[in-house]
Amino acid sequence: MTLQKMFAALSPAARALQLGQETASPLTEAFPRKRVVHAGLTGEMVPPGEAQSMWNTIMAEEPPAVSQAAYIHIPFCKTKCLYCGFFQNGLDQETENRYVDYLLREMYQDARKPRLKNSIIQTVFIGGGTPTSLSAANAKRLLQAIRDCLPLANDYELTLEGRVHDLVPEKMETWLANGVNRMSLGVQSFNTRVRRQLGRLDDTDTILSRLEALQSYRQCSVVIDLIYGLPDQDQQVWEEDLAYLTASGIDGCDLYQLNVFEGSALNRAIQNGRMSPAATTARQAEMFAFAHKYLTSHHYKRLSSCHWAANNRERSLYNSLAKKNIPMFQFGCGAGGSLGGCVSMNHRMLAEYEALVEAGQKPFMALMREHPLKNIISQVNYQLEHGFLNLDRLVEEYPALQELQWLYEQWERRGLTAFNGVLYELTVPGQFWQINIAQTTLECIQALLTGKTLLSLQRIAAQDGRKDGDLTRAVHHKAKKAGKEKQMPAAGSGLTELVLGNLAEK
Ligand SMILES: C[S@@+](CC[C@H](N)C(=O)[O-])C[C@H]1O[C@@H](n2cnc3c(N)ncnc32)[C@H](O)[C@@H]1O
Ligand code: SF4
Repeated sequence: MTLQKMFAALSPAARALQLGQETASPLTEAFPRKRVVHAGLTGEMVPPGEAQSMWNTIMAEEPPAVSQAAYIHIPFCKTKCLYCGFFQNGLDQETENRYVDYLLREMYQDARKPRLKNSIIQTVFIGGGTPTSLSAANAKRLLQAIRDCLPLANDYELTLEGRVHDLVPEKMETWLANGVNRMSLGVQSFNTRVRRQLGRLDDTDTILSRLEALQSYRQCSVVIDLIYGLPDQDQQVWEEDLAYLTASGIDGCDLYQLNVFEGSALNRAIQNGRMSPAATTARQAEMFAFAHKYLTSHHYKRLSSCHWAANNRERSLYNSLAKKNIPMFQFGCGAGGSLGGCVSMNHRMLAEYEALVEAGQKPFMALMREHPLKNIISQVNYQLEHGFLNLDRLVEEYPALQELQWLYEQWERRGLTAFNGVLYELTVPGQFWQINIAQTTLECIQALLTGKTLLSLQRIAAQDGRKDGDLTRAVHHKAKKAGKEKQMPAAGSGLTELVLGNLAEK
């Protein structure tokens, strides 16, 4: 099979999603929309009856001599933000106390086993949900357990994620006295109206003064998340958001393109006219390009596709290493990780999670074997996440991938990639469409090395309204007619993904 033939056999809608389209405006039109949240290929599910014994075998082994990471999940939020797909549970002190008891039990159970006991953990991320919502007493218990259970490298990075709303002295002092050296805080927008209508709590002045209070300890790297494409976040608001960021002395930021999930409260509010529409994908592309220029001119350094550093204090180790697919220990309700050739996801429901820990088991919802092409998937994801792909190196290792040259030449002609004499770099339009470029590259690699053709498509771009609905329906309809459509949980995203199998075979 050649890639050219494979794309020629697709319907025009599927081809546009996978290969992209010819256009004079690659920034806004190279693809019809973004099609997945994270690029990847999923492996085979381990039968539930075998999962625990497989896990015990992995944990009894000695660790490999590579960098390793840990992810700890806190599944509570004070309020549910309209756009968010991560919300699991509201706050309740008793539930939180009991959860932390179980979380610590899970950690201490694994800490005795050779795979963890003899490892060196370089980076830990406490994510959510809203980890900063933990009471100071529970945060202290968790941070002390991290030091007891996880053998941290001397130059470890320990990130606590959360909301600016929780930046109060008692909590900040507890975090900083117990080893947190990086804080990642969701701001989304500094604009009071834009943020409050989405369910965020504080106004602009409160955000600025709380961030200043945290920075005044000078004890950790402080980074914030901003989203672009929110309802009523016009060009002026976006410019103000970036100006507040650069004036604040914050060490780094993540800039996220808003995904409007089809089933989200945000989509419903927009549909029934309670809220202004969110920016279309094309408008988001312009906001991305504006931010790229703005931050570059303020001497920010782009560390990975969404992440920017203002100075050297910000390393963003976790985000970078996670893309390399390094071994990742996971703890907590809804946490995901990958270890010993398996990818796993802990239960997302508190009751099931607690019952499994109580029974002395690893609280899996699912254990999957890593995709057989895992090594190449990690290389491609890591490189494209950092804005390049070294095709010659890939081809040296896997000669059958020579055909990717054709694909990257197509994208070069369309203004998405540029060959610099050694490797392909993503242009600014290519950086905006990086996730589609990565997903298509992986799907082509799978086709070239195994003959299996797939097209992954998630319902994450409802901001494009009918245009997206018609496109997605057209692709699904063709797949359904051919009996090729199947539903599966998308790894790590908590979303349902449609994997349209073997579309090229008519
Ligand atoms: C797991 S959330 C936790 C953040 C923290 N609880 C907060 O609310 O600030 C991490 C980040 O994901 C981003 N995020 C959540 N939903 C999103 C969406 N629909 N589209 C784009 N980014 C989103 C937000 O920027 C958020 O800060
Ligand atoms: S954005 Fe943060 S606080 Fe809001 S629902 Fe999502 S995880 Fe919770």
